[in-house]
Amino acid sequence: MSATTGPGGPLLRTYRQRSTPRHRALGPLLLSVTFILISCSEDAPSTLDPAGPGARRIAGLWWVLFWISLVVLVIVTGLLLASLRRAKWNDLGAVERSKPKLGEPFIIVAGVVIPALVLIGTYVFSLKEMNALAIPGENTNLEITVEAQNWWWEAEYPNGAVTANEIHIPTGGPVRLRLTTPDVLHSFWVPRLQAKMDHIPGQANTMWLEADQPGRYRGQCAEFCGLQHAHMGFYVVAQSPEEFEAWLENEASPADPPESPTARSGEEVFLTDTCIGCHAIQGTEAHADIGPDLTHLAGRETIGADVLPNTRENLAKFIIDPQGVKPGIAMPPTDLEPQELEDLLDYLEQLD
Ligand code: CUA
Repeated sequence: MSATTGPGGPLLRTYRQRSTPRHRALGPLLLSVTFILISCSEDAPSTLDPAGPGARRIAGLWWVLFWISLVVLVIVTGLLLASLRRAKWNDLGAVERSKPKLGEPFIIVAGVVIPALVLIGTYVFSLKEMNALAIPGENTNLEITVEAQNWWWEAEYPNGAVTANEIHIPTGGPVRLRLTTPDVLHSFWVPRLQAKMDHIPGQANTMWLEADQPGRYRGQCAEFCGLQHAHMGFYVVAQSPEEFEAWLENEASPADPPESPTARSGEEVFLTDTCIGCHAIQGTEAHADIGPDLTHLAGRETIGADVLPNTRENLAKFIIDPQGVKPGIAMPPTDLEPQELEDLLDYLEQLD
């Protein structure tokens, strides 16, 4: 009855037989996944490649949890294999069970005390980091209102500057964001800078944002908000305080009057066709706020909430067939004669 079938018994042998090369590849595979998570590009940013104090806290917490989990996994797997080695097997390949001894110190310490300490420790550490992510370490001296809507972002600055989908911030300290939405739930997420924060209809949420270095940091709506949720991208453009001040001053100024004859007739097209019904260009009669403010459109690198690079060809595509570029958006197609379109593009391209 108590006949054993060699060290480890059938279960361990079965494990050894099944430990094919595919199983042994599991370790490297997990490591590769980790490295893919860490590696990133401007368009595929990773939380594990932080570029500001907020994301650094998240990455720090992630690594602490990763290493604790790895240590627990190694210890538990080691104990399991050791117990399989020591187990006594009967003829049917089942383990002969000895009577469990309740209250054995090893069970109390390894099964109750240590897990409780690990869980309490990580919980307290998480609470501390969550609190720090909610409140910046130092005072913010700039508040930007970011309104998320189907499916783009509008940023408004205290001096009246309004821009879309490219939110400029100065480096060297945290800025405060006031997050609003006129339609449905959205979520503001810049993986390399901060945790996510929801835009909730009927209330304003606040968060802070800080970048260590000047640069462009990709952001993305992180709450499903309808057809074009996936195309609701944006950039946070961090600049040195001097460059930021210059940008902000220019952004708040009205558009320069067009100089060339074609740009002048393009302005005429803008103000007499459907464009004026939805867009604003400060310094002209266009003051609608259904679509993005275009006063300094030429200063942006992308259009349509990061759907296309801001080039003449793409602008033409967007104006003629917006539903073809981004189905479901509020913008209707614009019916223009070829020359009218060229003039309009000349006008839009000098709005810097
Ligand atoms: Cu906005 Cu998803």
